[in-house]
Amino acid sequence: MTNKLRYFIGNWKMFGDFGSFKIIHKINQFSRKSKNQSKKKIILCVPNTLIHFFKKKLKSKFISLGVQNCHYHQGYGPFTGSVNASMLKKAGAEFVILGHSENRSEGETNQLIKKKIESALNEELSVIFCIGETLKEKKRAKTFSILKNQIKSSLEKKFNVNKIIFAYEPVWSIGTNKIPKMNELKSTIKFIKNEFKKTFKTKKSPKVLYGGSVNDKNISLFSSISEIDGFLIGGASQSSKKFIDIIKNYYK
Ligand code: 13P
Repeated sequence: MTNKLRYFIGNWKMFGDFGSFKIIHKINQFSRKSKNQSKKKIILCVPNTLIHFFKKKLKSKFISLGVQNCHYHQGYGPFTGSVNASMLKKAGAEFVILGHSENRSEGETNQLIKKKIESALNEELSVIFCIGETLKEKKRAKTFSILKNQIKSSLEKKFNVNKIIFAYEPVWSIGTNKIPKMNELKSTIKFIKNEFKKTFKTKKSPKVLYGGSVNDKNISLFSSISEIDGFLIGGASQSSKKFIDIIKNYYK
């Protein structure tokens, strides 16, 4: 069993209402009781409509809360339907997911993601920065060049890497029950860490998570790769049992 810090982050996507607090409550209780508490960080990224309510309702917090996107603009402005990083922080968010492929597929570019990252960091939100290749790109053996470009075009040396967690999410593995081959995944995670160090001339290795069809059955496969610093979990994070079982089975 590893002794390194591991992240278990839930991305609820478009899911949940006030009654879903029971899921948060159960996960919080699990975290409170679990051994080795300082070695795992549990974060639930919920819809904007719920963050303030959950924050208020959680009396003692053994988990952290985050959101799933923010506008690039700092301060108020004429952006109908949008919410900025400062508003989300004030509502209770500590983390924000940026660059998720579900938003990239709706038109988010690397340049726009960069502006969002900068604005989130300025508001002292921690960023969960998603990168990953599509199936077409994978088939054309373009995975590494795509990842390299996503990293280079959305980050700057001046960004505080301590506040950025990478999430490698191959687009073809999201919600499909398909996961990468473990040897390929290991080299991709290593590639991301090295690429970041090379591009930004730093010795400090970033945290890199894996996301895509993680469940309580396949988690034991991933636990063999020590380079993976944790997981970004979609569908399975919408059930307290499934989410908790993933964490339990990781440490089995
Ligand atoms: P699934 O775990 O449902 O495949 O989703 C992964 C994801 O997109 C997390 O951000």
